[in-house]
Amino acid sequence: MSNATVTSVASHSRRNPFLAAMIERRYLTLPGSAKETIHCVINIQASGLDHTPGDSLGVFARNPEALVDPIIAQLQFRADSPVASPSGATISFRQALIEHVVLNRANRKIMFALADRVPQGEQRNRLMELVDNSELLSDYLHTRDYLDVLREFDEVTFGTPDEFLAQLSPIPPRLYSIASVPAAHQGEVHLCVAVVRYETHGRSKAGLCSGFLSDVVSLGKREIPVFIQESRNFRLPADSRRDIIMCGPGTGIAPFRAFLEQRSLARATGRNWLFFGEQHHATDFLYGEELLAWHHSGVLHRLDLAFSRDQAQKIYVQHRMREHGKEIWEWLQNGAYFYVCGDARRMARDVHQTLLDIARTAGGLTAEAADEYVNVTLMKAEKRYLRDVY
Ligand SMILES: Cc1cc2nc3c(=O)[nH]c(=O)nc-3n(C[C@H](O)[C@H](O)[C@H](O)COP(=O)(O)OP(=O)(O)OC[C@H]3O[C@@H](n4cnc5c(N)ncnc54)[C@H](O)[C@@H]3O)c2cc1C
Ligand SMILES: NC(=O)c1ccc[n+]([C@@H]2O[C@H](COP(=O)([O-])OP(=O)(O)OC[C@H]3O[C@@H](n4cnc5c(N)ncnc54)[C@H](OP(=O)(O)O)[C@@H]3O)[C@@H](O)[C@H]2O)c1
Repeated sequence: MSNATVTSVASHSRRNPFLAAMIERRYLTLPGSAKETIHCVINIQASGLDHTPGDSLGVFARNPEALVDPIIAQLQFRADSPVASPSGATISFRQALIEHVVLNRANRKIMFALADRVPQGEQRNRLMELVDNSELLSDYLHTRDYLDVLREFDEVTFGTPDEFLAQLSPIPPRLYSIASVPAAHQGEVHLCVAVVRYETHGRSKAGLCSGFLSDVVSLGKREIPVFIQESRNFRLPADSRRDIIMCGPGTGIAPFRAFLEQRSLARATGRNWLFFGEQHHATDFLYGEELLAWHHSGVLHRLDLAFSRDQAQKIYVQHRMREHGKEIWEWLQNGAYFYVCGDARRMARDVHQTLLDIARTAGGLTAEAADEYVNVTLMKAEKRYLRDVY
């Protein structure tokens, strides 16, 4: 390999993302589901980007034209007005709005900018009430994008497009756990993305990046700036004879699909146990066919499913863990690794509590000893309890 190739291969990063194309997109949830979760295949061939199970893909999203154009109309500026890009190049106002600034969630700065520019009257009173009360302002902003705000305060005018742009926040990249391994899908990265959709103030809204991957990106077009975000510690055991227990409800399944591909290809002799949960078996069993096939072929030694809304009482992954507390304890005593991926706020907290309970009930430890075992021995000393939660 020439030096020139090495340089270009090594150069893609968060600061210099690779422009990738999506080559496949399909629903993982079926009609009738309350969720919209999609499988995306991104082509990173010839990018030089390499990844290991546990890594995430960083994605810089663009705003949809359907949001950008009404904002330009509301501001009464020309779409082709020249403005400065973050790198200093001259681009059109429309391009700046599409590529460089967050539009789907209004920030605090814009509210102060509006308050500075609004003439005396009802709108000024309302703005003053908002900017003087931090909690009220947070609630107000939680459900509004820039179009909502600009339409509500339509007496405000900005002198120039640059003056408006200066109030907005740059688009930060979003991370998605990589759901595939290079050895099985060479030159590709697979993602499992829950599309954020909601309606507020009479308009349908989408998450910036999940909406971009679902609605904006065209198949086959190199238009997605991406980079690999290496995981610091969410890794398979170096010793492939070790057992692993994976807890990944919802999109938390993503890295475990990569783990299973890797363990299958490496013919790892350690056993693999997966806890997966979603709302309904019929519509939300993400990668259900693959998981069942792995279960039947013996790659996945145990598969425990928790479909929360298929019965009157909610059943979650931690309920399934409790049912098998004794075996989980035996696996852990035998050196198994325990992995959790997905929702941080509710699921990971409850799964953590369940592990503590299992250490007490199945392991016979006191509350203090259980705490020491889970939080210190497993998590810190032996690094066998690993989390990738968001
Ligand atoms: C390490 C890591 C790995 C991840 N892996 C995955 C993955 O594999 N798959 C995956 O899908 N995600 C994953 N995520 C989450 C992902 O990065 C994004 O955060 C997610 O897709 C939402 O981003 P977005 O840009 O689509 O939404 P945003 O534009 O950020 O919008 C989400 C916001 O919408 C708001 N919102 C939602 N509903 C409403 C409502 N009804 N009313 C008002 N506001 C509302 C919420 O407050 C939330 O802040 C991961 C995150 C991390 C950190
Ligand atoms: N903060 C929030 O309010 C919120 C809500 C939804 C999603 N999210 C985020 O949206 C992203 C994707 O979510 P997703 O749609 O893939 O999956 P998800 O919302 O995490 O749902 C997957 C499964 O987990 C269940 N669940 C809910 N609360 C749980 C708990 N405390 N313990 C265990 N399981 C629980 C859900 O059941 P039920 O739906 O039947 O309760 C569902 O069956 C994640 O980033 C997640 O953090 C956040």
